[in-house]
Amino acid sequence: MVEIQGSMEAAKQQANPQAQKDAEVKGTLGRIKNKFIIMSGKGGVGKTSTSVNLSLALADLGHQVGIMDVDLHGPDVPRMLGLSGMLDLGPNRKLNPMRYSKNLGVVSIECLTPTKDEAIIWRGPVKFSAIQQFIGDVEWGDLDFLIIDAPPGTGDEPLTVAQTIPDAKAIIVTTPQEVSLADVRKSINFCKTVKMEIFGLIENMSGFACPHCRSAIDLFGSGGGEKTAIDTGIPFLGKIPFDQKMVECGDAGVSFQQHHKDSPIAEAFGVMARNMALLP
Ligand SMILES: Nc1ncnc2c1ncn2[C@@H]1O[C@H](COP(=O)(O)OP(=O)(O)OP(=O)(O)O)[C@@H](O)[C@H]1O
Ligand SMILES: [Mg+2]
Repeated sequence: MVEIQGSMEAAKQQANPQAQKDAEVKGTLGRIKNKFIIMSGKGGVGKTSTSVNLSLALADLGHQVGIMDVDLHGPDVPRMLGLSGMLDLGPNRKLNPMRYSKNLGVVSIECLTPTKDEAIIWRGPVKFSAIQQFIGDVEWGDLDFLIIDAPPGTGDEPLTVAQTIPDAKAIIVTTPQEVSLADVRKSINFCKTVKMEIFGLIENMSGFACPHCRSAIDLFGSGGGEKTAIDTGIPFLGKIPFDQKMVECGDAGVSFQQHHKDSPIAEAFGVMARNMALLP
């Protein structure tokens, strides 16, 4: 009886390619325990840096981690991790993620376009389909964490993630100044509208220690993210200070988390990773 039902299901999927895609997406997601989307209202606040360093911190704890870069117009994850080249096809005709290490794999549009400076000019439905392929057509395997790096704002990419991965939780990144915080409130409202759970808010570029006298300088102010989190009733995950080495590592494709293990930034990402690992 089970066998007959199985073959009827297979026949239905063959007749309906979308049903087949949906089944592949569901199958892949069923093997991933925790899914997080890293988002922000404003560009350049440190989403990709957070995605990469948080993933490295989780991988350092021994978890199996995947980074899915859904920033289709500005895919920065491979560059920040020093990865290049194209994804290859595995024996089951699925794409293998690019490997940073044995427990950290990456999928990005950057690893699917032969010309690196090519501009992606796609409308919503094509983006929807591409992101579904990033899930269903990729051999992610059994993952403890899938970290999804989103572009700024509340457009097609986060919407597709919300619709395709209903149990994804949002981590919202902001810088402390009001112009960024105003956009955070939009991200919070987006999550409420699409019924996505907010795991918490991170305040990035929060304060800067002068390399000469070590006195604290609040480049963009400080504490605005924490106050917004309290005002809106969402968990505050921590502050990441501004550190020029972060820019240098990102540009050079060198992992900050692994090269500056004793820094306050690596410690802050480590604390966040340990809190995420407490999830059932
Ligand atoms: N805490 C930090 N200290 C110093 N530089 C940082 C910090 N966080 C991020 N940066 C730098 O700021 C720049 C923007 O960071 P990043 O690319 O992570 O932002 P983003 O939010 O992903 O941007 P986009 O919206 O374009 O995707 C990068 O050069 C990065 O190295
Ligand atoms: Mg980015």
